[in-house]
Amino acid sequence: MVKKGIILAGGTATRLFPLTATTSKQLLPVYDRQMIFYPLNTLIKAGIRDILVIVSPEHSGQFLNLLGSIFKSYGVHLYFEVQKVPRGLAEAFILGENFIDNNSVALILGDNIFEDDFAKAVKSFKSGGQIFAKKVADPERLGVVKFDSQKRAVQIVEKPKEWISDYAVPGFYIYDKNVVAIAKKIKPSDRGEIEITAVNNEYLKNGKLKVGLIKGEWLDAGTFDSLLEAGYIVKTKKLYKNFHPLVDKAIADFNEELKGICKKKLF
Ligand code: DAU
Repeated sequence: MVKKGIILAGGTATRLFPLTATTSKQLLPVYDRQMIFYPLNTLIKAGIRDILVIVSPEHSGQFLNLLGSIFKSYGVHLYFEVQKVPRGLAEAFILGENFIDNNSVALILGDNIFEDDFAKAVKSFKSGGQIFAKKVADPERLGVVKFDSQKRAVQIVEKPKEWISDYAVPGFYIYDKNVVAIAKKIKPSDRGEIEITAVNNEYLKNGKLKVGLIKGEWLDAGTFDSLLEAGYIVKTKKLYKNFHPLVDKAIADFNEELKGICKKKLF
């Protein structure tokens, strides 16, 4: 059982300039709500109620304005941490060391939108690492996992230059407490990042990595086209109906509160 979750919502999102010159990518709208609500919902639906949100310094105030008190009546505890420089996904576990506090932890990327539900994996998790895979058309722009003939994962490569498999690794990962020590030992890759793929390879090398398959839509809203498509898919496939009632209620209450404040300003 995993009780703690981290949302990595920092980074510079240069591919979305000028949109991200004024706000964070994860605060941009995907249909009727900010992107960050999708990973938040995924964690909450999985039963996680202690959540660390890692943000960039430029946008920390905006995250706090939106999320600072939104769940306070719903038993969801949000914590915030600033990542000064985007050093790579695995830095989440170094920045989150005190929050993790020797527990297992789930990490979700702030720009990943899932239709699937991770509740079973989160509830049954015991030790090691658990990642997921999904067949995609463009594996070269993602982390990719290769399986042998018995469907066992044998290799994970970040953005492979040569084709190794069509199975990409989506941005939802579960690890035991050892992930903090593993992350601390990782050396930056050629692109200068402490890669999550290096964490996964460490667990794989030790025979402690499980790879499951995910179902349904998986959207990564990091470009103009994928952002637009994400909003369109959320609307047409009614993914906004996938929200945990708690999240819907918290957003509705927040909207009412904002309307109340606006009225007071007017009169
Ligand atoms: O979307 C899944 C993919 O995400 C995986 O398949 C890859 O293995 C993984 O490396 C990652 O690849 P990307 O190149 O898409 O990651 P990106 O740099 O876009 O970062 C993902 C999210 O994490 C994004 O919302 C920004 C945030 N981020 C990124 C970095 C490097 C941070 O908050 N801090 C960081 O240091």
